[in-house]
Amino acid sequence: MEIKDYLNKQRQLVEDAFDSYIPATSGDFAEHIKAMRYSLEAGGKRVRPILCLAAAGAIADDTKSEDILPIACALECIHTYSLIHDDLPAMDNDALRRGKATNHILFGEAAAILAGDGLLTWAFDLLGDQQRGNLSANKRLRITHIIARAAGSYGMVGGQALDIASENTTFPFSTLQTIHRSKTGALITASVLAGAMGAGASKEQLTALEQYGNQIGLAFQIVDDLLNATATTKQLGKAAGSDEALGKATYPAYFGIEETRNKAKAAVEEAKTSLSLFDDKARPLRLLADYIYTRSN
Ligand code: IPE
Ligand code: IPE
Ligand code: MG
Ligand code: MG
Repeated sequence: MEIKDYLNKQRQLVEDAFDSYIPATSGDFAEHIKAMRYSLEAGGKRVRPILCLAAAGAIADDTKSEDILPIACALECIHTYSLIHDDLPAMDNDALRRGKATNHILFGEAAAILAGDGLLTWAFDLLGDQQRGNLSANKRLRITHIIARAAGSYGMVGGQALDIASENTTFPFSTLQTIHRSKTGALITASVLAGAMGAGASKEQLTALEQYGNQIGLAFQIVDDLLNATATTKQLGKAAGSDEALGKATYPAYFGIEETRNKAKAAVEEAKTSLSLFDDKARPLRLLADYIYTRSN
C-alpha cells in the first residue's frame, strides 16, 4: 500500500473515533468544548495516533482497534493542546495553525488556555476509562504512565521551557538536541511505545521500538525546522520563517540547510535499522519513518 493511501485510511479511522470520544458541543460547557473541538478538528497529519496504531499492528495484527484508538486519540489531544499553548502570544505568538486562525485569535487567550487544559485533561480521561476497550488495568496504568512522563516536565513541557529560554542565546549542541528530543521526540516515542504495549509487546520489542521512536522523533523536529526555513506559509498552514525571526534554537541555524537535511536522513535510516527484528507487520512503521523525512508540511 502506498504511504499516502495508508495515511488517509488511518487518519479517517482516528477522526471517526474522535467524534465519538470527545464531548458534544452542547450544554453548560458548549463554548469551551467548541474551542477544544475547533483545534482538534482543524486537521493535522495525525502522526502520533497513526504511529500508535502502526506500532500496535507491528506487534500483533489482530490487535483490537477499540483497545488502541482511545490511546491514539489521547495522544492527539495532548499534541493539539501543546500546539494551542505553543501558539499563544507569550510563547511563539502565531496566528495561523493547520491552515486556520489559531485558537486564541478566534476564542481569545483565556479560552485558548482553557481549551488546551481541557484537551490535556481529556487525554487522561480517555486513558483511564475502563469502559473503553478491554485493556487490563495493569496495561492501562503502564501506558498512562509512559504518556504522562513524555508529556510533562521530563518531556514535552520541559522541552518547551528550554525552547523558550534558549531564544536568542548561544548554546551547546547538546542543548539543541535536548530541546528537540524533549519538546517533540518524547511524545512521538511514547506514541510508539504506548501502541506496542497495548498490543502486548515484549521487553526486547519495546527496547527496539524506543530506539526507533527516539530517532524518528528527533528527525520529525529537524524536518519541522527545515520546513520552517525552506517552505511557504501556504504549504505549511502555519507561519514559515518564524524560527529565524524569533531566534529559535534550530538545526538549520546551527548547521545550515544541507547538513541539517543529512542529519534528518541519518536519523530516519537509524530508525529503520532499529526495526530489524520485526517482520513485515512493521512495514507501516518503516514507511512512516521515510514519510517523516519526505513530508512537505
Ligand atoms: C507540529 O507538529 C509541532 C511539532 C511538534 C513539530 P505536527 O507537524 O505533527 O503538526 P500537525 O498535527 O500535523 O498540525
Ligand atoms: C512545537 O515546536 C513543539 C510543541 C508544540 C510541543 P515548534 O514551535 O517548533 O512547532 P511549530 O513549528 O510551531 O509547529
Ligand atoms: Mg514552539
Ligand atoms: Mg511554534
